[in-house]
Amino acid sequence: MDQKIIEEKIQTAKKAALNAYAPYSKFRVGCVVETHAGNFYEGCNVENISYGLACCAERTAIFKAASTEGPSMKLKHVFVAMADHKEGAPCGACRQVIAEFDESTMVYFKLGGETKTMTVSQLLPCNFDKL
Ligand code: THU
Repeated sequence: MDQKIIEEKIQTAKKAALNAYAPYSKFRVGCVVETHAGNFYEGCNVENISYGLACCAERTAIFKAASTEGPSMKLKHVFVAMADHKEGAPCGACRQVIAEFDESTMVYFKLGGETKTMTVSQLLPCNFDKL
């Protein structure tokens, strides 16, 4: 994917982070996913007073995509950004959820002063799968 488009989508993810419901961590995360069908879905993290029930931005966006397109939904690109921090990588749980919807999905995020472009398999080698 063109570097200019990647940066634009990361900016869109950053805007999506402004909708985060994060009164406990105050850590606002946003995500944009593109499916193989060519549709884009945005998500943000949604927390709960029962802390463990928080849903990450990535999963909010992915579940939006899956519940809109149905069981054939496959992820092509996932862009992640933080509203208040320059950098941050997707958590392990979200990597497993991305892998569910295509192990060759490309994931984009800022880390170490650069934009990382990695497949979910690179981010989560040996992910859990049915044997
Ligand atoms: N969070 C995400 O939304 N995505 C990640 O990949 C890592 C963490 C959220 C969960 C929680 O609401 C807040 O960031 C602090 O952990």
